[in-house]
Amino acid sequence: MRYSAVVLGMLAAGASAGAAMAQEAADAVAPEGAAATVAAEFSDISPEVAAALQAKAAGTPVQADNWMVAAANPHAVAAGAKVLKAGGTAADAMVAVQSVLGLVEPQSSGLGGGAFLVWYDAKTGEVTTLDGRETAPLAATPRLFQDENGEPMKFFDAVVGGRSVGTPGTPALMEAAHRRWGQANWPSLFEDAIALADGGFSVSPRLAGLIERDADRLSRWPETAAYFLPGGTPLAEGATLTNPAYGDTLRHIARDGAQGFYTGPVAEAITSAVRGAEGNPGLLSAMDLALYQVKERPAVCVTYRAFEACGMGPPSSGALTVGQILGMLGNYDLAALGADNPEAWRLIGDASRLAFADRGRYMADSDFVPMPTKGLVAQDYLADRANLLSGDDALPEVAPGNPAFDHALNFADDESIEFPSTSHISIVDQYGNVLSMTTTIENGFGSRVMAAGFLLNNELTDFSFRTHRDGVPIANRLEPGKRPRSSMAPTIVLKDGKPALAVGSPGGSRIIGYVAKTIVAWADWGMDVQQAVGLPHLVNRFGTYDLEAGTEATALEQPLSEMGFEVNTRDLTSGLHVIEIGEGLKGAADPRREGIALGG
Ligand code: GLY
Repeated sequence: MRYSAVVLGMLAAGASAGAAMAQEAADAVAPEGAAATVAAEFSDISPEVAAALQAKAAGTPVQADNWMVAAANPHAVAAGAKVLKAGGTAADAMVAVQSVLGLVEPQSSGLGGGAFLVWYDAKTGEVTTLDGRETAPLAATPRLFQDENGEPMKFFDAVVGGRSVGTPGTPALMEAAHRRWGQANWPSLFEDAIALADGGFSVSPRLAGLIERDADRLSRWPETAAYFLPGGTPLAEGATLTNPAYGDTLRHIARDGAQGFYTGPVAEAITSAVRGAEGNPGLLSAMDLALYQVKERPAVCVTYRAFEACGMGPPSSGALTVGQILGMLGNYDLAALGADNPEAWRLIGDASRLAFADRGRYMADSDFVPMPTKGLVAQDYLADRANLLSGDDALPEVAPGNPAFDHALNFADDESIEFPSTSHISIVDQYGNVLSMTTTIENGFGSRVMAAGFLLNNELTDFSFRTHRDGVPIANRLEPGKRPRSSMAPTIVLKDGKPALAVGSPGGSRIIGYVAKTIVAWADWGMDVQQAVGLPHLVNRFGTYDLEAGTEATALEQPLSEMGFEVNTRDLTSGLHVIEIGEGLKGAADPRREGIALGG
């Protein structure tokens, strides 16, 4: 199954049909890639960027010998490429990429958000992870998102304003990665972002479309409204946008490190915006910011065929859920079935449902709640779960399993809502280090509250709004200092202990399906990375099988319905950025968004 040339053209030109839930629909139907427009903007200044855009539009991977970077915006990729070309490491390049993304793709990630980073270290051969997830303010209580009767608030009533803002982790993660693995001069890594913030950049088609669709919410906060809707009018595609406040914030960080963000004027601007958000103030304090810490955690690795997929463990559900899906599928011969076979998608869909059942019951911040982390991906447990898939039809019911607990505690099923925003960065440097990082402010435009030139996250709404069910506590309930459960799944796939693939995507809890499917397409169906990224999506989380509108995936609607799945055709706007590491490097950027891969 492939995108036809027509569909690829449609994606590149921004045509997209269908609608779904409020913000998710806005995210999905916004003008996409607009490769031609963006190529025109870049062709004068950067032939490499224009060539990368052409490769993407043609559906071919970008190839290189030494280094590569793939991310969601050509400006950000160009900044990372400059660092890599000059001999910087993947950690150095990430700082440059993230600094620019926070400016040119502000709706998805930035200084006001959090991120998870997976790192393959060429010197040691080890994979490790950094957790830069936001934390709940110390003053927050488990009932933060409940009304006076203990009922959950409406989602967007909780999101928009200061209440949903957790302590940002991304600036601390940038510094931690640079300290561990960087070698470039720290201030130099902000030069491109500062130049773009001061000198201006062209508003992308996707950003303009999203601003227009979210204008009501963006209008609620004066600093946000003035930036995104100057004079009350949404910024148009191609408008030149400057952000001197963002430039100043970067100058603080360039001079003082993360300290320049977590203390002093930037920190004061953050707490005052959060606490002063009229109608829905939050609890974030100077103490929360000053105490924030990045945590290095062991990677969660699961064997799949001849590979090991390594990713981010708790507080992300990403690696465990992707790992469960792959671990179950490893018991079936997907290669023999092929990508067009409904039977392959029955297995993928129900493996995913089983994994999501465990996710809802067991996965949360394991610094706060006991979790069966090892048990969830134990081979014998996954083989037992895989046996449930041995029939011919969709499972009539799906329930969590009973993985071995390191220490026992029972939890009730989770209830949390996630909408897709977020961004993914994949980088390989000339020394052989590999970085896979997914970065977010949660909802598109996060809390909509802006401070010091950037948007603040609404990550706290990734907690379950309910704390208990029938008197049994929910693992992902909010607690002071806790990190909300995430679906972000930055992944590095190893073969014989060596890196073979860096992959990740935005997409809320659909991230898990996007990443698992891309690995299957590449590992089982022999697709190159651009084909695997472009393969139409079929995603099943909680029972409904979502098929990507306008693609050949819809041909599976009838057979999957006949198997007993509830099928729903809709837009599925992933943002996969993938690099294959083999004889050389091959990079792919998702045709559904504006990113590119660039190498040298
Ligand atoms: N807020 C998106 C995620 O962490 O999964």
